[in-house]
Amino acid sequence: MKEVVIGFLGCGNIGCGVWELLQSFNKDIVHRDDVHITIKKMLVRDVNKQRNSPVPRELLTTEPDEVLSDPEITLVAEFMGGEQPATDYMLRALHAGKTVVTANKVALALNWHLLQAAAKENKAGLYYEASVCGAVPIIKTLTEALHANRISCVMGIINGTTNYILTEMMKRGCSYEEVLFDAQRLGLAEPNPSADVEGLDATYKLSIMASLAFHARIPVDKIYRNGITKVTKEDIAYADEMGYVIKLLAIAKRVGNTVEAHVYPTLIPREHMLAGVNGALNGVYIYGHACKEMMLIGRGAGDMPTASAVVSDILQAVTHTQHSYPTFQNTKEPSPEMSFDDDWETEYFIRLSAIDKPGVLSEIAGSFARNRVSIATLMQKGNATPGGRVALVLVTHKAHEMDLRSALRDLQSPDVSVDSMIRVEGRQPS
Ligand SMILES: NC(=O)c1ccc[n+]([C@@H]2O[C@H](COP(=O)([O-])OP(=O)(O)OC[C@H]3O[C@@H](n4cnc5c(N)ncnc54)[C@H](OP(=O)(O)O)[C@@H]3O)[C@@H](O)[C@H]2O)c1
Repeated sequence: MKEVVIGFLGCGNIGCGVWELLQSFNKDIVHRDDVHITIKKMLVRDVNKQRNSPVPRELLTTEPDEVLSDPEITLVAEFMGGEQPATDYMLRALHAGKTVVTANKVALALNWHLLQAAAKENKAGLYYEASVCGAVPIIKTLTEALHANRISCVMGIINGTTNYILTEMMKRGCSYEEVLFDAQRLGLAEPNPSADVEGLDATYKLSIMASLAFHARIPVDKIYRNGITKVTKEDIAYADEMGYVIKLLAIAKRVGNTVEAHVYPTLIPREHMLAGVNGALNGVYIYGHACKEMMLIGRGAGDMPTASAVVSDILQAVTHTQHSYPTFQNTKEPSPEMSFDDDWETEYFIRLSAIDKPGVLSEIAGSFARNRVSIATLMQKGNATPGGRVALVLVTHKAHEMDLRSALRDLQSPDVSVDSMIRVEGRQPS
């Protein structure tokens, strides 16, 4: 039987989950894989802190060297979070020839090139299934199962907090602020929710997924980002009437060597595969030239779902004789042959309010036409009091964002104001 001694960097939600899963599953691992895993040390900030699981006090340390410099520890599992000191500690472990398993999307998305170079140089493994979508096996799907595909689209609901908020806004007809308040009370959103609701968390995950899908580094700073804080209950209700749901989508598409990568609130048709991914679930849609459409769905966060991905990475690392790494040039900058498009064509949902008087509709139509944007549907909502305002909701045909923004700029006047502009996604790429 193979004896493996491992160390943890961090023992919070995920560290405790991994500790519990290894306790309850170790017998199966011994029986199935002929491997016995011992956790020797866990780095934390405060050894006296109350933990979610009864982790033995003697395993905890505040001294990084007790994990990083112990020759008996051959695998380090990192769940500290944040870019630093996590990146430096993982680099130290890799330079010492230890394999690293991480759940840390921030450190990986920002410093992948450094971590991968250190891993290769020292013939150590670098595993990160848990860094994107928790238990959903998106990394192994992209790197192994779909390796025989040219992937042109990877698009997902990859942040459970925002998906929960948007789903509840739709179900209960409540405002963003009301649902966020409830989600914070229930522990489903952080006291400071900005990384989730501003789309940053999804941007890190999209950078990792898209790089693997397109075999090229797609850096975080090349991803256009917009969060959900401006989505209103009116947007959700009108979208519903038109047969759409609103989701925070992380979208990456590749045509030739041109990539567009965005995280933004998006209208998707109710019959789209992603439309039924509700609550805190994650879902990822992939289009490959051979596999065609494919969809993964499951729990993207939580201690046990994330521990499921971490422990399976640990087992893969210790049962394989050779580690593999992504084959693309993993550099900090995107590869020179790739270009990034920030003016991709898409359809748009626009909500306006306008003074109810003759000529306003033709003013709106004229402004769109002058800027090469054609309107697919236009609805007037409600009746205005004399001289009052009405809501107008329209969906455009495919248009360039620059053209649309210029049309909306032309429109702004005391008579018309632009209340929302949300992208519409739905046609399947081919
Ligand atoms: N939570 C999820 O559902 C989830 C899902 C997928 C991936 N992840 C990722 O998993 C990682 C951990 O998340 P988490 O929710 O477990 O976080 P957490 O509960 O805040 O745990 C962080 C752990 O790291 C320790 N730590 C942090 N900074 C440290 C430092 N400078 N020195 C020593 N120890 C330090 C903390 O020590 P103390 O306990 O003493 O404070 C704690 O044990 C993050 O990268 C996160 O993005 C989380």
